[in-house]
Amino acid sequence: MKLSRSAPVFVLLALVIQACSQSENSIHKSTEKFTPPEIQLSESHPGGDTTVSTVAFPSLMKPAKNLPQKRLPEFHAGKALAHQPWVKAPTITTARDGLGPVYNARTCLACHMNGGRGQMPTTSDIPLLSAILRLSIPGEDEVHGVIPEPVYGDQLQTQSVALSHQLRSNTSVDDFKYKEVAPEAYLYVNWLKSQFEYADGVKVELRKPEVRFTNLGYGKMHPQTLTSLRVAPPIHGAGLLEAISQQDINANVDPDDNNGDGISGRVNQVWDFETKKTVPGRFGLKANKANLRTQVAGAFAGDVGISNPLFPEQSCTTSQVLCQKTPDGNDVSSDGSPAVELPELLLKLVTDFNRNIGVPERRNLQKKSVKNGRNLFYQAGCANCHQPSYVTQKVAGFEHLSTQTIWPYTDLLLHDMGEQLADGRPDYLATGNEWRTPPLWGVGLRKLINGSDNLLHDGRAQTVEEAILWHGGEAEKSKLYFVRLSSEQRLHLVAFVNSL
Ligand code: HEC
Ligand code: HEC
Repeated sequence: MKLSRSAPVFVLLALVIQACSQSENSIHKSTEKFTPPEIQLSESHPGGDTTVSTVAFPSLMKPAKNLPQKRLPEFHAGKALAHQPWVKAPTITTARDGLGPVYNARTCLACHMNGGRGQMPTTSDIPLLSAILRLSIPGEDEVHGVIPEPVYGDQLQTQSVALSHQLRSNTSVDDFKYKEVAPEAYLYVNWLKSQFEYADGVKVELRKPEVRFTNLGYGKMHPQTLTSLRVAPPIHGAGLLEAISQQDINANVDPDDNNGDGISGRVNQVWDFETKKTVPGRFGLKANKANLRTQVAGAFAGDVGISNPLFPEQSCTTSQVLCQKTPDGNDVSSDGSPAVELPELLLKLVTDFNRNIGVPERRNLQKKSVKNGRNLFYQAGCANCHQPSYVTQKVAGFEHLSTQTIWPYTDLLLHDMGEQLADGRPDYLATGNEWRTPPLWGVGLRKLINGSDNLLHDGRAQTVEEAILWHGGEAEKSKLYFVRLSSEQRLHLVAFVNSL
């Protein structure tokens, strides 16, 4: 358990929690005796000194409050590159061309709208735009983590630079076939509904997505294709998450559940495309990316179709001949490095923009319901995975992110979340049942940020309550604790989560 180092009382209480969970398996019995840690002053500022105000307006695109003023122009330049649409090559503006040829969106922030989460379509006739479908076939690969689907690659690109697609004049695949680069497919979801009923008779409607493709552009997929639907997560505070020491993360690893709390927690091991080594994973919904630089470079290549120093290839697979023949937007560099669409300097600007987004301040901390909900959050064992607090390590060149006491509510580890949430698609060491604990800071602002309330990896949950009800596997006990609370206590726990 990571704690603010200035708080010995907190540490002591944390040890009590551990002792309780070790001695008794029933979460009810063990938690009755346990007093949650006292509220810390630093909790109101989850991002430490980077924390930004939510007045006059809440945003997940504000620069860290303590970002040195001389670095603001660089932040805004990075933001512009993440925000302004890329265009098809060739154009006269060589700096912004090279889109696709196949891609998912023209800009980063089309998916991470206002820095927040993507939007899932509410009905099955609206195409899916701010989520992606990862693809693979069974087997392992040290570098890519998966064996990509032979024709479509490891991600389904639902857009292409073809004019007929842009104008949506096509209705059949044949329109595309030999004339223009077809999008790989159009993607839709059908929502399968079910109902959950509490012992007191209160009912909650739940929904689970079933993916549907139309207009498959390049023939049938491999019969054993595995898919993983992932909605864009919020991106604020990423630099602080990167500044948590691996040692602090490893301290929560418990693969064999030696402390007997039913929770294991594993580190993914992934390929770092820069150092060409296997290293611990931290970003992505299965902790499938090593660091922010590979995450951002991978997003440029896979999501927008913009080649860059880490991923110099175009987004076409070898079977996509027309795609291969489409002009690229590569600009020859003056220093002799390979020609790419996004040169090193611009990749750095966007990566640092991601690093330097501030975390929003807490709201309603002193409300009775929120305080009570906080106790219940600890008692239900939520904090065992949604680890509240860390002190970041020193990061050269990023003094404003260094030695900050932060409250992200994640252990950044993989957990088996049960069959209901499983995608059945491994990603490096992550199994088809495992997901990385997502940070909860800022989660209560989701509606205000961009209107999206799509929680969990595939956006199926529309409220915090629904998200909890989907928890299973290692989180089953924690969920059952929640389910057995009174309806008022449940509201309080949810009020706490929404105050983050
Ligand atoms: C088509 C939608 C889409 C676009 C466009 C997109 N992303 Fe993402 N982004 C996602 C999804 C989905 C994930 C989760 C990926 C995974 O789990 O493999 C993600 C993950 C991330 C993460 C990691 C967040 C975390 O909590 O680990 C960052 C940072 C990020 N994207 C930044 C960017 C940047 C910068 C760009 C533009 C170059 C971009 N994204 C473009 C959908 C998108
Ligand atoms: C065993 C670890 C574990 C425990 C215990 C746990 N969670 Fe989670 N939580 C996760 C993981 C992993 C996910 C992501 C699952 C997914 O996306 O399918 C998640 C997702 C969430 C989300 C959605 C966040 C988002 O951005 O989409 C919320 C809200 C949440 N948990 C709250 C809670 C609460 C409240 C409790 C206690 C009742 C709790 N969790 C207990 C691991 C855990």
